[in-house]
Amino acid sequence: MQSTRRSTHRSIHPAVLARSAALTLGVLLAAGALPVPAASQQPSTTFPKAPPLPDLAGKVALVTGSTDGLGRDVARRLAAAGAHVLVTGRSVERGDSLVDEITKSGKGSAKFYRADLASLDEVRRLADVVMRDNKRLDILVNNAGVGFVFDTTRKFSADGYEMHFAVNYLAHYLLTKRLLPLIVASAPARIINVSSGSQEPIDFDDVMMTKGFNGERGYAQSKLAQVMMTIDMAPALEKQGVLTYSLHPATTMATTMARALNVKPRSSIAEGVESVVNAIVTTEPTGTYFNQLKPWKAQAQAYDPVARAKLRTLSDRLVGEK
Ligand SMILES: NC(=O)c1ccc[n+]([C@@H]2O[C@H](COP(=O)([O-])OP(=O)(O)OC[C@H]3O[C@@H](n4cnc5c(N)ncnc54)[C@H](OP(=O)(O)O)[C@@H]3O)[C@@H](O)[C@H]2O)c1
Repeated sequence: MQSTRRSTHRSIHPAVLARSAALTLGVLLAAGALPVPAASQQPSTTFPKAPPLPDLAGKVALVTGSTDGLGRDVARRLAAAGAHVLVTGRSVERGDSLVDEITKSGKGSAKFYRADLASLDEVRRLADVVMRDNKRLDILVNNAGVGFVFDTTRKFSADGYEMHFAVNYLAHYLLTKRLLPLIVASAPARIINVSSGSQEPIDFDDVMMTKGFNGERGYAQSKLAQVMMTIDMAPALEKQGVLTYSLHPATTMATTMARALNVKPRSSIAEGVESVVNAIVTTEPTGTYFNQLKPWKAQAQAYDPVARAKLRTLSDRLVGEK
């Protein structure tokens, strides 16, 4: 099912291919966290394009983290194809502004749902109102993310979990489970998990990183968890008409996350949008991980069924679900 391509991304940096000592550099570059050589500091303007979206009139799409960055432009693209887009994020101002913009465009429609994914109660409430307000959900894009990759002190979610793990992974695990009845009822449907090329194995003895925290590893662990969730859920979802994919969108896009790390962009947000659109239309087998538009090999732990089962059990316990 998975491509046999190598597990590192050629697009990141040649150094990561050579030796494990270079992994840190690769992780940071993939996260958009390190300055890159001057020659490559301008975002590329030419890049491969995904096949076009079909007419999405009558379809409903939810994009987490669509008040900014990649998610906002994905929401714009889905609305332009005719979808009703459920915009989510914490910023009411940016959420309302995007809804206004989509409404004025005359293409598609949108509604804003404010939710802080750093609280599992808010995730449950978001799922409840989405289920109440909508008769269908054809596309779920789990995109919201945080990346405090230079931090050496842990941040915690409202539930007391390490922040990267909580927002990037656990919130989306719970949201997906809660929305599944609506998604399955809308099949054929898709669940897209926006991960990253930054992936490090989960240390099941210390998932919350009580010992020797560093932000880079916290980010990379949460991003691998998203890939593992995708592969783990894929077979059962497929039987219900739902396909699921994970992806690295683009390296160092010009977004708030990258700007907060004070790095110059290497990729435009438009490049990342193509990666998400590609996952929405791809005919590759469900569960596939993409490096942008290409099926790719994720970090090895993603293909370990024992590790995936451990993550599933842990996640159910942490979110309080069966
Ligand atoms: N930038 C890159 O080069 C790059 C590379 C690889 C992967 N990625 C991945 O791409 C995704 C999008 O990143 P981006 O670069 O577009 O980031 P961004 O511009 O910082 O946008 C992040 C989005 O997530 C939302 N968000 C953050 N924390 C949240 C929380 N606690 N609750 C609810 N929403 C929250 C933000 O909403 P509010 O501002 O309204 O809170 C915003 O809409 C992330 O998953 C990231 O890991 C990015």
